[in-house]
Amino acid sequence: MKLLSLILYRWQEDNSVELVNCEELTSFSFFHRGPLREHIKFHSRLIATRTPPGQRQSIDFDQNLGKCYSWSHPEAGGSTITATVLVDGEYPMRVAFALAAEAIRILRETVPKDTVEAAKADMAINSPEIQALFAKFQNPAEADKLTKIEKDLEEGPPLVSGSCGGRYKEDPAGCIRKQELLVGKIFWINLAGRRMVVVGSDAEAMKQVAMQPATVLSAQRAVAEIGFEYLLGPANVYRGTTFHKRVLKEEVNPKAKLEALLPIFSQALSRALDDEAGALMGPGTTSDSVLAHPDAFHLVRRCILRATLDVLVSPSLLHRDPSLLSALMTFQDHVEDATAKAAVLPRLLSLPLCLWPMALSRRRLAGRLRRLLAGDAPDGGRGPWLRAFQSEQVPLKDAAEFLIGLVFAAHKNPAIGAAQSLCFLRSLDGEVQEAATAEATKLLAAMGQERGAEEALLAATTLRKCVLETMRVTAHTLGALRYANAPLQIETRTSQVTIPQGATIAVAHNSTHTDTRVWGSEASEFRLDRPEWARHEDISSPVDPYKLTTFSQGVHKCPGEKFALAVMQMMMAILLARDSRLVHVPKISFERATLAQREGPVPVTLRLQALA
Ligand code: HEM
Repeated sequence: MKLLSLILYRWQEDNSVELVNCEELTSFSFFHRGPLREHIKFHSRLIATRTPPGQRQSIDFDQNLGKCYSWSHPEAGGSTITATVLVDGEYPMRVAFALAAEAIRILRETVPKDTVEAAKADMAINSPEIQALFAKFQNPAEADKLTKIEKDLEEGPPLVSGSCGGRYKEDPAGCIRKQELLVGKIFWINLAGRRMVVVGSDAEAMKQVAMQPATVLSAQRAVAEIGFEYLLGPANVYRGTTFHKRVLKEEVNPKAKLEALLPIFSQALSRALDDEAGALMGPGTTSDSVLAHPDAFHLVRRCILRATLDVLVSPSLLHRDPSLLSALMTFQDHVEDATAKAAVLPRLLSLPLCLWPMALSRRRLAGRLRRLLAGDAPDGGRGPWLRAFQSEQVPLKDAAEFLIGLVFAAHKNPAIGAAQSLCFLRSLDGEVQEAATAEATKLLAAMGQERGAEEALLAATTLRKCVLETMRVTAHTLGALRYANAPLQIETRTSQVTIPQGATIAVAHNSTHTDTRVWGSEASEFRLDRPEWARHEDISSPVDPYKLTTFSQGVHKCPGEKFALAVMQMMMAILLARDSRLVHVPKISFERATLAQREGPVPVTLRLQALA
């Protein structure tokens, strides 16, 4: 087993700069060593330059010299360091990668950062520590301690150590991003004892996951496994999604239908806010009163859920059972709590402690909805879902279960998104806020007309950019869960992994959004002036779903995207037209696997009557 060379570079896209060079060519004759050295230097540099930050490669070296393993290791706010290790065919891959990782670590710790950053031409940095490491790795068995750490490199996607679990809770987005930079775009992660394969910011890999048919990657089985078969019930897991997709496709998303639906929804949102304020302030409320609410997120959620039930199903539901609103919200929150608990408990415990009790609550809620659906709504009050239940003769039992699924998918994310957009807007310059308020007044006036809703939403450019940018910055950390029914080979320019049958896969939706190569150097900032948000011809997202990943991609891409973007924009307009002011805005929180929320309540004041 021969270790021939280890070279460290400051990685550059066009031509990487050599920093440290170690070689062991004594097995070659003196006369051959000179040309061989040049050959190794030339090809190693080429391989290093072609190994993008965060990636590893193994490449057969020119003229059958052996294998070259390269690893490009980026550092936040600093250069990427690439190590190339040239070995013969017998030298174990994991030992070669362990040498690369350790040499990079030593370079970072022992060579001043300024020296590395200033390196524009090849240097011959003398590092006794790296030379000693190189000597030690001449005997791979000697390096055993390190090789154990890297053992997973030989076994498919690398495993992120359990410590990510702790950090994940505090900063899931940062944790995933960091792992990506360290080990590549596809890796195993150990979350609360559950292993899953995470696909990060790699559009090609995401595409290969997103486009798989259910026979290979099953969304149903993945959500059933995390407990949704009990929490939302088998009707929702196995049939509800298809039903909702059909209603959205046929009754909501077509241009003319959306144009007709949006003004009705906007008016329902305004009425919902009036009702909420009226209920909170009681008698004696005048139109110039100011409402102080302890949490904008909660208030907005109630408004959006009320409008969703009234317009998409029927106003008769809440009319006949006003407390249904709170019951549905509480149910959804409990489902989220139970999902989090079930993730850390063995099934034997999670079944009696959280899954069965929630299944019982769901059945009770479904019973309540079934009784409400049984009382026929007058024709004028039938929304697209009620019409579809009736025209497709969906049994009441299923319809009631489907409504629970609809509410689950359709109200909380748009509500969080609208409230978050307001939080972000209120952190911007006064001028931007004034522009948004002026747009809000115009938008709401247009929503009083029969036509032009979509055009009015597009014309309210500040509001729209604010919603889109909020979707980008607050996207889910791990979404798009899939169960591998069969082994899946993912092959991209930079990764080649086999995901075994039985594994769970998740796509890290917000990794792409913080990737500076995709969204520029200020990828993590909230910016309205992104060229991507330039005016578009319709109200769906203006960029490709592999770039704005919040609504997922491929087979299971959110069919409610267009409608949700419109709802968030309209809700924001209503809040601005009522001069909503935020008293205190806590830090953003990614703790729950939905759109990011805030670490605590966001108190808000607003006028009861819209500004003139
Ligand atoms: C800001 C708001 C929303 C966000 C961020 C969002 C996000 C998502 C995501 C990420 C998925 C795909 C999950 C996957 O790949 O497995 C999804 C699926 C879905 N969404 Fe949305 N959604 C939103 C609003 C809505 C609304 C308003 C509706 C209905 C009116 C809706 C209905 C659905 C349905 C039915 C699916 C299932 C699609 C399938 O599995 O094939 N969503 N949503």
